[in-house]
Amino acid sequence: MAPRSIIIDTDPGQDDAVAIMLALGRPDAVELLGLTAVAGNVPLHLTVPNCLKLLELAGRTDIPVFAGASAPLMVPLVTAEHVHGKTGLDGWDFPEPTTPIRPEFAPDWIVETVMSRPEKSVTLLPLGPLTNVALALAKEPRLAERLESIILMGGACVEGGNITPTAEFNIFVDPHAAARVFASGADIVVLSLDATHQAQITNDWLTAIKGLGTRVGVAFEGLLTFYERFDTEKYGTDGGPLHDPMTVAHLLAPHLFTGKRVNVEVETTPGLCFGQTVVDRWAVTDRPKNATWVTGLDSPAVFDLILDAFRRLP
Ligand code: RIB
Ligand code: CA
Repeated sequence: MAPRSIIIDTDPGQDDAVAIMLALGRPDAVELLGLTAVAGNVPLHLTVPNCLKLLELAGRTDIPVFAGASAPLMVPLVTAEHVHGKTGLDGWDFPEPTTPIRPEFAPDWIVETVMSRPEKSVTLLPLGPLTNVALALAKEPRLAERLESIILMGGACVEGGNITPTAEFNIFVDPHAAARVFASGADIVVLSLDATHQAQITNDWLTAIKGLGTRVGVAFEGLLTFYERFDTEKYGTDGGPLHDPMTVAHLLAPHLFTGKRVNVEVETTPGLCFGQTVVDRWAVTDRPKNATWVTGLDSPAVFDLILDAFRRLP
């Protein structure tokens, strides 16, 4: 089977970084067409160079990087340095990147790339706020049916929120963009906190990453040790949830995941529930089922998949 062509839209972020490495470690199954940076965990002027740093670490500067939106559609940017550190990739001292970015605005490049390739041949994996995706859909609404699917990390239902009691960070930062994506008609798979909180980093796994002895392995032991400190304290767990890589893992091994078709709406009214994903889990309304909401995953198998991919990196 030919490798799946994907675009990763991202706000690196240590967990975004693992997702990107998972994709790079599986060239047999994934062709990463490009990284599109968005403001999220840290501002755009940091998420762009963070994309470049990761590609240079992996020796893949052939993969293009594009700058996207520096702010959400309608509200001021909220960032997450308290989780990811002031650089967004605290935990490892990357050299300043030297690779140039491409001049195209990220949403424009997404549209041009997807519309110029065969129908249903490109999968879009958003790992941050959905601003770039919403802008691309606004420019070219036909993108929704042209895409193979959108496999996104965001939202929460059973698990509650991680930035407010009701909202998950990616959706909270730009709920207006998220609402437009869920209304687009695209085939959407949602890896929310309901799923990603089942993917807890273990000490043994992190030791195995460090034990690879590769430049990627050594860097990621530092990145992930820094990253998980916040969540282990917050949740009182041994390890932190590894959110974004679940999107790439779902693309590589969907059999490791379970989910159900549901309606997902996004609350955009200011207040306690601003940015909440309102999930009709039991179809109590007649709202259209616009997403596959992942409810379960085989965590040990998924972490084995990630470790196997890391073994293939320099
Ligand atoms: O809530 C988790 C999400 O917010 C992840 O994508 C993480 O990288 C941050 O962007
Ligand atoms: Ca992210």
